[in-house]
Parts: sequence; structure tokens; C-alpha cells
Amino acid sequence: MSSWSEIRKSVLERIKPSRAEEITLKEVGDQVVERINSILKKARIRGVAEIHGSVPHGTWITGQMDLDIFVVLNTYRERGQLSEVLDALREHTDWEFTEAWAEHPYLQTEIGGYNLDIVPCFRARTGDRIMSATDRSPLHTKWLKKNLNEKGDDVRLLKQFLKVIEIYGAEIKVGGFSGYLCELLVIKHGSFMGVIDAASMWGEKEVIRFKEETREFNDPLVVYDPVDSLRNVASALREEPYHRFISAAKAFKENPSERFFTFDETPVDVDELIEKIGERSLVFVVIEESKAEVPDTLWGQLRRSVGAIEKQLIIQGFDVVESTVWSNEKTRHIFAYMLVSINRTEMDKHFGPPVHLEKDVKKFLEVYTDNPRVVSGPEIENNRWFVVLYREHTLVKDTLDKLLSDGGARIGISKGIAVRILQHHRILMGKSIGPYLIEGFERQLAKFIRGRPFWVE
Ligand code: CTP
Ligand code: MG
Repeated sequence: MSSWSEIRKSVLERIKPSRAEEITLKEVGDQVVERINSILKKARIRGVAEIHGSVPHGTWITGQMDLDIFVVLNTYRERGQLSEVLDALREHTDWEFTEAWAEHPYLQTEIGGYNLDIVPCFRARTGDRIMSATDRSPLHTKWLKKNLNEKGDDVRLLKQFLKVIEIYGAEIKVGGFSGYLCELLVIKHGSFMGVIDAASMWGEKEVIRFKEETREFNDPLVVYDPVDSLRNVASALREEPYHRFISAAKAFKENPSERFFTFDETPVDVDELIEKIGERSLVFVVIEESKAEVPDTLWGQLRRSVGAIEKQLIIQGFDVVESTVWSNEKTRHIFAYMLVSINRTEMDKHFGPPVHLEKDVKKFLEVYTDNPRVVSGPEIENNRWFVVLYREHTLVKDTLDKLLSDGGARIGISKGIAVRILQHHRILMGKSIGPYLIEGFERQLAKFIRGRPFWVE
């Protein structure tokens, strides 16, 4: 077992950007900023381009070619100003843009291998009412400049740790820790190890303040934004990633190792995986249809839909152990369910009203006396009538076929997904998923089947 200081040094050698990388990144940033500023001038837009996010904070991980460019408008009149900025950029450049509209309009483009997010926002001062969600970023950079000091490397370590355990990022797909949240945690607890020590003692719910705060949030982790008391910086963090971090922090404390900072890249043995699939009760819904959607929107729909199907399977008498959803975010989405059994019982004991509810009993008896689905009953148990019914579909495939025959919007599948299901879907049992074990789905499924995080040994 190596010591923490050895691990730290070795990990930083891998993840800390070189001086040369830093210089090039900043040069590219400066050029883009200059270009955008001249366009703003031409278009008579009063505002200025600035770089925010992990590059000016000194907390990005080497190899990350992302620049977060904000076009900060001087004064707020109406939200429409945000789109005016984007229109001006489209008009005056030949950059190829993707429009991203998660909560806020912004543009994405690639220049010389760098991914640029160009985000319009309004100038705000600490304590101002925020006009658009991204107005806080310039304030974050300012606050961090005063408070982060020399702790950028500790933030990098925390980000890498969270990436490896797959809970880095506030996007809906992940529901984890944002970069800014990592920065605040390191400031609060002094270092990477300080965060690990603290997290290993977090309870069901944890609240972190930088000054006195009063607003209440109903999230597992509450970290008040030092530049905006009305915001919980950890609001995107879901219950499960929160607890995963606590568990990993405890394990790391007990047995620090470089494994926590190293991605598992051993290729998945697909033959072995298929064999394991065959030993379990797995059923898949494969949806193949292309319809462009911003990832956050798509993942919101996918999460809701995979849950809606799971709920129906349970209602219909299947024992669902666990479910997962995979997507290449364009043309293919796969829902996977692990069941206790792919069959359910052929009989269902169905209870009716208590004996003394005359009217209801009358109705119950009308429906179930001489009903061909009834195997036994109606009969009284304690104070209630019941019948034993024969179930038509006992195979999960038949049940799913029926549930999805109309797309499934009726059972809570989100509309965007139901439309796709109607156009093309397949229900596959066990090993027949074989041809789809590509594009990274094989890795996710292998983990899903294994079920055990790497630090549990
Ligand atoms: N931001 C935020 N909350 C989020 C996402 C982003 O407040 N959930 C703001 C922060 O001000 C952050 C900036 O947007 O500094 C840029 O966000 P992003 O690029 O997502 O994260 P970084 O902090 O730059 O980290 P990374 O190294 O992953 O890019
Ligand atoms: Mg960034």
C-alpha cells in the first residue's frame, strides 16, 4: 500500500495540465474572446466575452479541450437579448454551431479541436436577483479567485475521483457533483483529503454553509452558493450518487489506492458476458430511432420511461431486481431489467371487498361468478371475498409486448420516447441481446450484472 502523498504525486502527474497546455488553451480562449468582442461591437450589443469555468479557476483536468465562454450583457431588458447574441454570432462567423437549449439558449462549436460552449448571460452583482441561470458564473470566478488559493490541484483530484466512480457532472444523465460543487467542497474542507474525511462522516442529509443561510432545501446535500443564498449548488445531486460518494470515501480512507483515480479500461470479454447473461433473467427493450434532442432532455425522458416500465412490471406481478438505461444519445436506447424470474406465477389471488359492504360485494360476485378467468372462488377469507385468477401473459415478453403496443404513453412513458417506441422497438430476452453489446453498452451491462463497486472487495 502506498502512502497518500505518493498516490497524490503520481495521480497529479497524470491529470495536471502541463504549462504548455495551459498556455495554448488560454491563447485559444483569448483569440475567441477577441473575435466575439469585435462581433458584439459590430452588432451594437453592449456586453463583453469572458472565459469562466474550470480553465480560469485552474481546476481543469489535462486533455480536456473545453472552454466555457460567456457573453456577459451589461444591462437586462428582456430575455430575448440572449438569443440576439447568438443570432449575431451566427451571422458574423462561419463557425458551425449546435444549438443547445437545456434551460438556457447557448451555442456549441468546435474550433481547432477545442469544444467551445458560448453562453450569453446578464451582468449581476452578488446579492442581485439572478435574471438567467448562467449569470452566476462570472461571480463564481470572482469568488473563487479570492478563496481557492493554491487548492486547484485538490479540486482536480476530487474531480478525477468522482469521474472514476462515475458521479462527476450535474447533467441529468449522471445526477452527480458539478465542477463548482467540487471547488466549494475543497474550499470548505481545505483539501482533497479533507473532503474525503468529511464525506466519510456524512449522514442521510448534509448542509454546508459559507455564511449564515436560512432558505431550506429538500436535497440530500445542500451547499449554499456563496454568491447566491437562494441556490443549492448540489441541487442536481441525486440520492444514489450522494450515497455512492460516501461509501467510496469511507473505502478510500480505509485503503487509499491509485485505483480510485484510474479508469478501468480492460476490454469486456463479450463471450463471457453473454454466458453470464444466460445465467440470469434479463429482458431488454431496444429502441432504434433517431431524433435529435439535447442530452439533458433525452436523459430526463429515458430515466422517466425506464422507471415507468419497471413500475408496470411490478404491478403486473414481476419481481424486478434492478433496471438500467443506456443510450448513445442519438440512434439507440436500451432499457435493461433484471428480474427474479422471467415468468411470473400463472395464478393471481385477487381480493375483493369485505363481506359487509353489500353493494361492492354484489358487483364483485357479478363479475367473478362464472368468469372463465377464475380458477377458484369467489370464496371468503377472514372477512373478505377473493378469487384466484388465471393470468394470460406469464412471460415477461408478452407482458411488455402488450404494455408497449401503443408506445406506452398511457403507463407514464414520456411522449418523446413513446413516439420512438411506436416507430421501432424490440423486446429481447437474455442472450439475444448479443448483437447490441457494442458502443459501450457491453461495459455498462457488465457492470450492471456484476453489481458490485470496485472498492467493495
Ligand atoms: N455551473 C454551475 N452549476 C452547474 C453547471 C455549471 O454553476 N450545474 C457554472 C459554474 O459557474 C461553472 C460554469 O458554469 O464554473 C462552467 O460549468 P462547467 O463547464 O459545467 O464546469 P466546470 O466548473 O468548468 O468544470 P469542468 O472542468 O468539468 O468543465
Ligand atoms: Mg467547463
